[in-house]
Amino acid sequence: MMLKNSRISVAPIFFMQNKINIIVSVDRNNAIGRQGDMPYHISHDLKRFKALTMGCPVVMGRKTFESLPKGALPGRRNIVITRDSSYTAPNIETVSSLDKAIELAQQSDSDIFIIGGGEIYRQTMALADNLFITLVDDEAENPDTFFPEIDSNVWVVTESTPFEVDERSGLKYKFINYSRKLG
Ligand SMILES: NC(=O)c1ccc[n+]([C@@H]2O[C@H](COP(=O)([O-])OP(=O)(O)OC[C@H]3O[C@@H](n4cnc5c(N)ncnc54)[C@H](OP(=O)(O)O)[C@@H]3O)[C@@H](O)[C@H]2O)c1
Repeated sequence: MMLKNSRISVAPIFFMQNKINIIVSVDRNNAIGRQGDMPYHISHDLKRFKALTMGCPVVMGRKTFESLPKGALPGRRNIVITRDSSYTAPNIETVSSLDKAIELAQQSDSDIFIIGGGEIYRQTMALADNLFITLVDDEAENPDTFFPEIDSNVWVVTESTPFEVDERSGLKYKFINYSRKLG
């Protein structure tokens, strides 16, 4: 668009919201955690997690942050949700609510990844555009944290890979992506 009597061109402005993606690994019963840790650590899954989330803001609950072996995830804006206003750790930003976390993450140019844990997944299912699920074909022993049910009225599978076998553990796993149904 050219302004009258001016040589300044103005590009049309579109207010694009970054997509909100949930990423999680679940077992056959939707278990995701046990005593503050994940039941499974599958190398291919961890590498894929890194590749997908690199450069993007990652939003997590305080307990998930404390489960990260090396603290904040490098190369990503780490947004940690906690009700403790004095909470601090290197290379993270803390917020006191989910709304504030999303607001902060939306300032970025990249899509947003919600990386857990159970409490945060439950609160973000209604906001998410996509789910990146790793399904581990197993039943974790004594899990204490679960992912919510994926309602087939709400979500459609957009990609589902064949099962692969993790060489180290012998566990079978596959990747299933969902998108929110339109309308
Ligand atoms: N399998 C996977 O892919 C995966 C991924 C991530 C995590 N996990 C597992 O999940 C487990 C942790 O999940 P979790 O449900 O126990 O905890 P979480 O969701 O990671 O964190 C819960 C904490 O987040 C804060 N919080 C939650 N909702 C809030 C809100 N609306 N406003 C302000 N603060 C809020 C509170 O922190 P304060 O108590 O500090 O106020 C709360 O205690 C661990 O076992 C972890 O390994 C698994």
